[in-house]
Amino acid sequence: MSTSRKNVSRTKAFPSANSVATRPFVYSTGRARNGVRDLLCDRVKLARLVQEYGTPLYVYSATNIRQRVGLFAEAFKGIPTTLCYSVKANSNLSILRLLNEMGTGFDIVSGGELERVRQVARPALRRVVFSGVGKTAGEIDAVLAANILLFNVESAAELDLLEQRARHMRRVAPVAVRVNPDVFAETHPYISTGLREHKFGVDMASASGLYRRAARSKSLDPVGISVHIGSQIRTAEPFGQALRRVLELVQELRCGQGIDVQYIDAGGGVGISYQLDEPGASDPRSAVLAYAAAVRGALTGFAGQLLLEPGRFVVAQAGALIAQVLYRKQNGSKTFLVTDAAMNDLIRPALYQAHHSILPLRQSGGDQTSVVDVVGPVCETGDFFARDRELPDLRAGDCLALLDAGAYGMSLSSNYNSRPRAAEVLVEGAGHRLIRRRETIRDLLATEKSLL
Ligand code: LLP
Repeated sequence: MSTSRKNVSRTKAFPSANSVATRPFVYSTGRARNGVRDLLCDRVKLARLVQEYGTPLYVYSATNIRQRVGLFAEAFKGIPTTLCYSVKANSNLSILRLLNEMGTGFDIVSGGELERVRQVARPALRRVVFSGVGKTAGEIDAVLAANILLFNVESAAELDLLEQRARHMRRVAPVAVRVNPDVFAETHPYISTGLREHKFGVDMASASGLYRRAARSKSLDPVGISVHIGSQIRTAEPFGQALRRVLELVQELRCGQGIDVQYIDAGGGVGISYQLDEPGASDPRSAVLAYAAAVRGALTGFAGQLLLEPGRFVVAQAGALIAQVLYRKQNGSKTFLVTDAAMNDLIRPALYQAHHSILPLRQSGGDQTSVVDVVGPVCETGDFFARDRELPDLRAGDCLALLDAGAYGMSLSSNYNSRPRAAEVLVEGAGHRLIRRRETIRDLLATEKSLL
């Protein structure tokens, strides 16, 4: 999504955001066959996808993703904004293509992510911002050659390296300093980034020194400023607080050093509700509107281009991980459902004690429920999806959906326990296509040598 003049025609592609459902996963309505209702993604029965592609399986709704981008376009209408989707949330090429078709830019953090954007569409490179605390010289060279929009620099040492590489390549690097505004935002400590003691960004006091250095260099062009205070932030106020501090610095730079900052990159971080029926939770549109009100309010008087880097909010609720129950077992007083998906497929519960709601693929009215732990086959006690969760009685062979897994699910997956990675399917209305085939054991072994 870009509402700068150049790309304005693309906004026509946005679906109406009036009827935005939180999730595309709902049970079929109408007369249930044998009292059984099927869980759908858009209009496709998930049971049908399981038959065709097997499990574990990631399923995403293209419609839901488009609607989320549409919400940002609506909320930021009237101010020049480019949404630079944070590729790390879900980097599947088909999803990047879908977003590119809507005119979004991309927030990347590695040479690998750069290559993904390049493969999707070379022109999109002009809408790329490059973030990250540990950019290597090789990555900097590749990104300089790609002519991106902005380097978000996170330290004095990185600024030096960027200058050296740019001089060597006879390029001028467009630079933003990522500032650390020392703002607290309520979230899991592993994904909070905006405090002075975090490794991210440069403290506000040292930032002007870096701008001074950048302005003196022929190889650097200080055109922006960036901030990202963390992820899964559920209230708008910390974003406003951080951006008010950023705008103060922008004004100081203009008055004190004559540096005219054209881009403010507000980072990502807008959170979602992972609960099915969270009391008082705002719907997606209200969440974006509240966020936009805080951002717009804080940046009143700023005449440049706003960049946003949402990841989770765009793709999390569009996706679910489908798993099959392998065994139901009893240990003492505990009941376990052992599924064929594991922490290597979705690590969020193990890593952040994250809650993912679980729905059976088939629901019958009179389902008995029981309290169970849903766990994977990996040899770690941390390999769980839910603990002491009340669920309809599920048996071996039944399938379930772990909701809100579209962000930081597949992109954080691994081959731990030599488990091949899941397949991914993109649903659109009544259609669906495979966007990543299931890995094979042969794929896993392909890069290794067994030396004697
Ligand atoms: N921009 C920067 C500089 C970031 O570091 C991140 C996320 C984003 C944008 C996108 O943030 P989002 O809109 O998705 O909150 N694996 C964790 C989340 C890690 C977030 C890392 N940085 C999780 O599963 O909750």
